[in-house]
Amino acid sequence: MKQLSITTAIQVAEYNELSEQDRALVDAAREATHRSYAPYSHFNVGAAIALDNGEIVTGANQENVAYPSGTCAERTACFYAHARYPEARFTTIAIAARGTDGNEVTNPIAPCGACRQALLEYEILAKGNVKVMLIGCNDIYILDSVKSLLPLAFSEF
Ligand code: THU
Repeated sequence: MKQLSITTAIQVAEYNELSEQDRALVDAAREATHRSYAPYSHFNVGAAIALDNGEIVTGANQENVAYPSGTCAERTACFYAHARYPEARFTTIAIAARGTDGNEVTNPIAPCGACRQALLEYEILAKGNVKVMLIGCNDIYILDSVKSLLPLAFSEF
């Protein structure tokens, strides 16, 4: 019998260590948390996607009284990005969140399983890695790809 192991490399950076481009994406994700509609959870998530055409597309979680009908920030952003710019490739996604106290989370949040699968689709379409930035109030976690968030992913491609 043999054993396989999968490891995930995460860089931990502070805001002022980021490139100007990445800082702009972090700002956009943080700003998008203010457009979250979360009257049930009071947990405000924002996502910002950088595209290879230079555009930044943002999304925020949108809840619904019929709870499962709501959508996470990441899927709001990635579905809108591809609907609006179907030819563009994703390059980076940044995700920010504010907790029920209204303050930015200390520990970065990571996308739920469904969002990981949805984001992976666009990484495959991009034919290259999509960088992931998970934003906390001090530490920003940087992963080199969506795939590193979803090892052994299902894919027909
Ligand atoms: N949520 C997101 O928008 N993204 C995540 O990565 C995790 C959770 C939303 C769903 C729901 O509106 C609220 O956060 C609480 O779970």
